[in-house]
Amino acid sequence: MMQSELPAPVYRKDYKEYDYHLESIFLDFDLHEKLTRVTARSRYQRTGDSAAPLLLFGEELELTRIVLNGRELEEGEFSVDKTSLAISDVPDDFILEVETIIYPDQNSSLEGLYRSSNNYCTQCEAEGFRKITYHPDRPDVLAKFTTRIESDLERCPVMLANGNLIESGQLDNGRHFAVWEDPFPKPSYLFALVAGRLVCIKDTYVTGSGRTVDLGIFVEERNRDKCGHAMTSLIKAMRWDEEVYGLEYDLDNFMIVAVDDFNMGAMENKGLNIFNSKYVLTSPESATDADYLGVEGVVGHEYFHNWTGNRVTCRDWFQLSLKEGLTVFRDQEFSSDMNSRPVKRIEDVRILKNGQFREDSGPMAHPVRPDSFVEINNFYTATVYNKGAEVIRMIHSLVGPQRFRAGMDLYFARHDGKAVTCDDFVAAMSDASGVDLDQFKLWYSQAGTPVLEVETEWNSASSKYRVDIRQTCPKTPGQPVKKPFHMPIKIGLINREGRSLLSSEHADGSMTLELRESSQSFVFDHIEEQPVLSFLRDFSAPVRVEKFQSRKELAFLGSCDPNLFNRWDSINRLGCEVILEVTESMIKGNTPVIDELFLQSLAQSLEAPIGDKALFALSLQLPAETTLAQEMAQVHPEQLHLAKRYVMKTIGAKNRECFMRLYEKNSEPHQDHAITPEAMGKRSLRNVCLAYLMSPDPLERDMLKLCEDHYFQARNMTDAIAAFSHLVDVGGQAAEKVIDDFYRRWSKDPLVLDKWFSLQAMSRSEGTLDRVKSLLGHAAFSIKNPNKVRALIATFAGLNHYRFHRPDGSGYRFLGDRILELNGINPQIAARLLQPLIGWRRYEPVLKEKMKGELERVAAQKELSRDVFEIVSKSLA
Ligand code: PHE
Ligand code: ZN
Repeated sequence: MMQSELPAPVYRKDYKEYDYHLESIFLDFDLHEKLTRVTARSRYQRTGDSAAPLLLFGEELELTRIVLNGRELEEGEFSVDKTSLAISDVPDDFILEVETIIYPDQNSSLEGLYRSSNNYCTQCEAEGFRKITYHPDRPDVLAKFTTRIESDLERCPVMLANGNLIESGQLDNGRHFAVWEDPFPKPSYLFALVAGRLVCIKDTYVTGSGRTVDLGIFVEERNRDKCGHAMTSLIKAMRWDEEVYGLEYDLDNFMIVAVDDFNMGAMENKGLNIFNSKYVLTSPESATDADYLGVEGVVGHEYFHNWTGNRVTCRDWFQLSLKEGLTVFRDQEFSSDMNSRPVKRIEDVRILKNGQFREDSGPMAHPVRPDSFVEINNFYTATVYNKGAEVIRMIHSLVGPQRFRAGMDLYFARHDGKAVTCDDFVAAMSDASGVDLDQFKLWYSQAGTPVLEVETEWNSASSKYRVDIRQTCPKTPGQPVKKPFHMPIKIGLINREGRSLLSSEHADGSMTLELRESSQSFVFDHIEEQPVLSFLRDFSAPVRVEKFQSRKELAFLGSCDPNLFNRWDSINRLGCEVILEVTESMIKGNTPVIDELFLQSLAQSLEAPIGDKALFALSLQLPAETTLAQEMAQVHPEQLHLAKRYVMKTIGAKNRECFMRLYEKNSEPHQDHAITPEAMGKRSLRNVCLAYLMSPDPLERDMLKLCEDHYFQARNMTDAIAAFSHLVDVGGQAAEKVIDDFYRRWSKDPLVLDKWFSLQAMSRSEGTLDRVKSLLGHAAFSIKNPNKVRALIATFAGLNHYRFHRPDGSGYRFLGDRILELNGINPQIAARLLQPLIGWRRYEPVLKEKMKGELERVAAQKELSRDVFEIVSKSLA
C-alpha cells in the first residue's frame, strides 16, 4: 500500500478487545489461471458494545458480494475504503458471506496468496490475511477454519490447508476439489493454503502416548532427494519437545512445504508450515555445515511454535516476543542438545552482539515489547527475537531449570487456547517458581543495552574478595532515563593454576549473582590467593561489559578458563582490543604495532594440545568488521579493514608452519560427509587454517595452488566455498576461473547460486561494487526473489563493510536505488535493506554526510510504503 499522507502509529496502550466473537469461518478458494475467487462465510456473535459496527480489514481486494443472514447487502448498507469494510447495523448473531477476487500472480509483496515457481502459497503473518478476504485479522480473534480449494487437476494436483483432509474429489472440466478442516481455533495469521505440482516425502512419528502422526515434506520434483535432513530434524524436534517440556503434537498430520520465494525463514501455520526452501533442502555437495545446522534449527523453531505461538498465541502484535523470544530460546536449547552447547552459545552471542546490540544503540532501538509501531513488519527484529530469547534465558537462570519447567506447565495450564501477553508469561513463571520477577519485567519495557562497570579487590589479610558492579543504560528514543535491571551474573573465580576457587555445584565452578541495584558489591570469603575473575559466564545477561581486565588476565582466561564460553570470549575481547588499537594508529598515520602478548598467546595456543576443534577454530576467528565497528567512537571502515587484515596476515606469517601442519593434519580426503560436531569441527579448523595461509600479501604461489586444490578437490560445500571466498578475494585470473567453474557446476541450483552471488558481493577487491551492479542483470538474478536480494544486495551492503562504505558514497547510492526499486515490489524487503544506513551518525564525517544524504533522498520520494517510511523517518529523526 502506498501512502501519500504520513502514516500514524498504533499504540500498545490503546488495546481494546474485539466487539465480536468469530466462531467459525468457511473459506472457499476457486483458483483460476488469472484470478482467484474467495468466498468467506463466517459466524459472528456480538460480545461488546451494542452500537459497535462490524469492522473488517481488507487490502487489494475486489469486493463482489456481501450477504448477511442470507440477504445480499446493497450499496449504502456497508462502507468500503482501501483498507477496511464496515457494516453498521448488524444483529447480535449472524452469518456473513463475503466474496472477493484476488490476483495471486500480481502479488509481489509475498503476503497473502501469491505464486512461487508457479505454485500457490500463502503468508499471513502478521497482517497478510486481509489480502485474502475481509476479516478482523488480529491475533486475539480465534476461529475454527474449514477450507475448500478448487483448481485445475493438471496444474495443481496437490491442494493443502491446515488440519485434516475431510473430503476431496473430481469435478467437470478437469477440475478437482479438497476440503480441509482444522479442529483447533486459531487466529488468521496461522492460516495457510498451498496448491501446485509438488511431490511429498513421507514418514511417520509415534508420540509418547502412542499416536501415529503422518509427516510430509512437499517440494518440487527436482528437490525430492534433498529432504532427508529436514525430516530427521523434524523427528528429533518432536521427540525433544516431549522429553524436555512434555509437549506432544496435537494433530494427526504435520506438513512442511518448501517454496523459493519467501520473505523470511519459515512460517509456523498450524499443521502446515511453509518454509523458505533454504531451510529445508540439503545435500552434502550443495549445503554447508552451517546450512545443515540452519535447517535443524528452523525446523525445530517452527515445530516448537505449535505450542509456543499456536496453542498459546499473542493478544496483539506488541506481544510478538511472547511467541518469538520463547521459541528462539527453545530452538537454541534444542540445537545445543543436538550438537555442541558452547559452540551454539558462542554463535548465538555473536549474532546478538552483531545484530541486536547494533539495533539497540541506534535510532530504531525499541523494547522487547514495543509500545508503538507504524508497520508491524518492521518489528520482526533482532530485539524481539534474539534479545527476547535472552530475556527468557535470564528467567531460566534466575528460577533454575526445574522451576522453569513448572512455569511452562503453569503457562499452558492457564492459557491453552488463548491469546495472551508477555505479562501473563512472566506471571506464570513467577507464580510457579515463587521468584519475584517484578523488577525483571523492565527487560520487556526498557530498550537499550545495559553497560556494566566492574571493579575487584582482594584483601590478603582478611581473605576477602570483593566485586563491585555498576550498571547504567544509555538513553534510547523516547526513553531518556532508565531504572536498574534485575539480571543474573554468572561468574567464576580461578587461581593461577586455573583451578576454581568457589564451591559450586557446577562442573566449571560457576555461581550466579543477582544484580538489582545500580551499584552493588559482592563479597567472597575464604579466598586465600589472588583470584582471576571470570565474569558474565555463558553471557548470562545481554549487556556490554566495560574493559576492566588486563590483557594478561584475558590471555590467561583464554588459555584455561574452565568455562568454555568465557575462554572464547576472553580471546575474542583480546582480539578486539588489538585490532582497534591498530586501527587507531592507522587513523593517526602511525606505524601500527601489534601487542606481543596477544601474538604470543595465540602462538602458544597453536602449539598446545587441541581439545574441541570447533571451539578452537572459533577462537582463531577474528571478530567481524561490523562487530568491531560498534566499539569505535567514530567508524573509519577503510582503516578498520586494513587493520584487521594486517593483524591477520601478521598472525599468518608468524605461524605459517603451524597452520600448515594443522591444515594437513585435519585433511581427510576420503571422509564421509558426517554432520557431527567432531566432523564439522575438523572442517572449520582446517578452513580457518586455510584463511591464515591465504592471508599474506603478496600471496605465495604454492598457497594459491593449495587453495585452488582445496576448491577443486572439495567433496562438500563447506570446503568448496571456504576456498572459493579466498580466490574471489585474490581477484584476477584466479578469481575468474573459479567464478566460472562454480557457476557452470551449479547453474541449475538456485540455493547454491545464492552463495555464488554473496561470495562475489563479499569480495574485498576494488571492483566489487561494479561486479555487484552487473550481477543485477545476470539471468539467475531476480529482484523479486528475496533470497537473491539478500544474497547479492544485502550481503554487499550489510556484510562487506569495507567496500560498501566507499569514500565516494557510490555504495550508498547503489543501495538507495535498490530500496526505491523494491519499495513498489516488496516493501518488507525494501525496508530491511535500509539497515546498513541506519547507524549513519557513528561514521566519520565524510561518510556520515553521504549516508544521511542517501536516507534523505529515499525519504523525499512520494509513494513510500509504510515499511520504508517508518524506518527512514526514524533513522533521520
Ligand atoms: N513467525 C515466523 C517465525 O519466526 C516468522 C515470519 C514472520 C515469517 C512474518 C513470515 C512472516 O517463525
Ligand atoms: Zn518464530
